[in-house]
Amino acid sequence: MTTPRKGSEITKEWLEVILTEYEVRTTPDASVQIITFLVNPGADPGNNFQAEVIKVAAEGDVRGVTSDSNNNHKHYNLFIKFLLGTAFQQQGARMMNGHRCELLIYSDIIADLNDFQAKTSGDKYHINIPEFVYGICTDDDYVLVMKDLSADGYVTRNKHDGLDLPHILMATDRLARLHAVSYSFYKSHDFFHKYPSFTIDERWTNMMKLFLSSLTDCFIKAAEFKKEEYKMLFSTLESNKDALTEKLGDMPTNPKKLKIPCLAHGDYWTNNMMFQYDNDVSTDQMFPPHNIMMIDWGNTMFRDPLLDLQYLIYTSTTLSLRKQHLEEILHHYHSTFTTTTNDLGVRVDNWDFQDFMEDWNNTRYFGCIMGALNNILTLSKAGGKYQKQRGSISSNKFKAKIEIKLSKLLIGPMTKLFLHPSMQKVAVDMMLKPFKKIIMELESCDEKTQSRVFDLFNEAWQQGVFDV
Ligand SMILES: *[C@@H]1O[C@H](CO)[C@@H](O)[C@H](O)[C@H]1NC(C)=O
Ligand SMILES: [Mg+2]
Repeated sequence: MTTPRKGSEITKEWLEVILTEYEVRTTPDASVQIITFLVNPGADPGNNFQAEVIKVAAEGDVRGVTSDSNNNHKHYNLFIKFLLGTAFQQQGARMMNGHRCELLIYSDIIADLNDFQAKTSGDKYHINIPEFVYGICTDDDYVLVMKDLSADGYVTRNKHDGLDLPHILMATDRLARLHAVSYSFYKSHDFFHKYPSFTIDERWTNMMKLFLSSLTDCFIKAAEFKKEEYKMLFSTLESNKDALTEKLGDMPTNPKKLKIPCLAHGDYWTNNMMFQYDNDVSTDQMFPPHNIMMIDWGNTMFRDPLLDLQYLIYTSTTLSLRKQHLEEILHHYHSTFTTTTNDLGVRVDNWDFQDFMEDWNNTRYFGCIMGALNNILTLSKAGGKYQKQRGSISSNKFKAKIEIKLSKLLIGPMTKLFLHPSMQKVAVDMMLKPFKKIIMELESCDEKTQSRVFDLFNEAWQQGVFDV
């Protein structure tokens, strides 16, 4: 059986194999026969930078459920992720390990965390993610298949509006739950022994600092057209950017150096969560959500929990919501985290609300820069265009084989070279090149996107975030 590399390569035979494997988990003698299936795009341009996502709706018969049964007719709604881009880009993504970690999240890790919290707290802190159907991650193949939540009425919110209070509170609540359960789990289990894919080379710490500093430079340049209005802001940022990145310390990489090492989602913003409602959402009324699912785990890693929280707040809310409700949201995060860890039998010392706020203030710069990056990539037209231009592996089988071979040969030595301290800046600039092109179009962005971005900088500036 050949694993497909994109939507157009999906076959009936492949679906039958993976769905049979799926059914066998609950019914050992099951076998699935597909009658019809339909492949649809899984996301609009501008909504996914890291994977090709598609949806498959299939109808099939499950045989052998019981010895005397009639055929059991079933509908399957699947959400499928492939690696994206040229052979070389795909190899690059493989070196970062995000695809492998994401698969583990669905296949094992969240199940581990859920078992753990169920045993200790009677399933009070269940973490919701889409159900895992099938996955493979070898040198040659990669695919991740899960249930399509939209078939169960889950929807994403409009990314241009920012989340309202009930939605951001629920998003915050589940984030605190994820952090608290994973932190408690980490305290009593050797997470990295079981999941070595999550181990990060410490050289990435420095790369992350260069990444933020290089992004800051780019935003300063792109904001040139508002130079008069924000003169002091961007000149302060220019002089302090190195000190600001330095202050963030070891944030991304080394759990031993972190105060509260947690499983972080890594890209938790409006589009990567889906809500379910008791009521009919087709009306314009704002209903509070009934449930939430955290989706799209391609950037997951172990790191400081506040980075997820910063990212959530500054990607997914507007200035006016923050002005009215930020304090309430932060209190909610902190009390949820504290209650959950306590219930799971883990005490977190020296982290009362005051301590938490100190950590919050110390990670504000990350929130500002990453919030601005996410906003411009996902809300601007330039971001959507960029995504349509991404290359892919050749559809000619022979050519594809050569491309893959060549990229496999080259990527190892190149990664080694780029991680070398003297080359890190060059490497970061190369990685950021396509993003920088989009940032430089800030001036021609629509007003709503522009004000989301400038609000972030101005708010941070007024709170003294750029002072050192
Ligand atoms: C955090 O920063 C704000 C300024 O935005 C300040 O008012 C507050 O006292 C700081 N809190 C802590 C605990 O450092
Ligand atoms: Mg996404």
